[in-house]
Amino acid sequence: MKTHDCVQSVLISAQEIQQRIAELAQQISQDYRNKGLLVVGVLKGGWMYLADLVRQLSIDVEVDFVSVSSYGRGTKSSGKVNLLRDLTTDCGGRNVLIVEDIIDSGITLSHLKDLFLKRYANTVEITALLSKPSRRKIDIPVKYVGFEIPDEFVVGYGMDYAENLRGLQDVCVLKREVYE
Ligand code: PRP
Repeated sequence: MKTHDCVQSVLISAQEIQQRIAELAQQISQDYRNKGLLVVGVLKGGWMYLADLVRQLSIDVEVDFVSVSSYGRGTKSSGKVNLLRDLTTDCGGRNVLIVEDIIDSGITLSHLKDLFLKRYANTVEITALLSKPSRRKIDIPVKYVGFEIPDEFVVGYGMDYAENLRGLQDVCVLKREVYE
């Protein structure tokens, strides 16, 4: 199926995304100035947001990645978080900021936060470009949220449907007929 056949509408435009990231980057830079920050991107979905965010920060940071998957090729979380790739950095004593594309049930972020705290990270905060509050199963604080969105299946800007559509510049709503 071609891209334009899969997308119902643009939910958040590329321009709106960049404007909001600039605001978040300013706040994050202010909060972590002179404190040292390890930014941890969550693959795969979080890579595009991380790349844009760190370029807008006015502080220097270290960057590392984890890769997790709980959705596989489906549309619902399996509830089980698979750590496919671990950090290569020791997060002990570090201020960690986890960078996610989207928080839905909260299962992934809660799992990662617990993991880094168990490894004696000094602080662990979260930024998610998108949040679906209506889908939350675990109440986990997200300090830096880009946009709260309704319960729609979104793709683009790093997010996929069955590993496709990650390269769209806008956050788009997937047509129901594609996944139902
Ligand atoms: C998505 C997203 C988050 C997670 C959020 O990842 O990137 O990691 O789901 O959902 P939750 O709050 O319900 O845990 P996905 O498993 O689709 O993998 P991907 O990032 O590789 O596409």
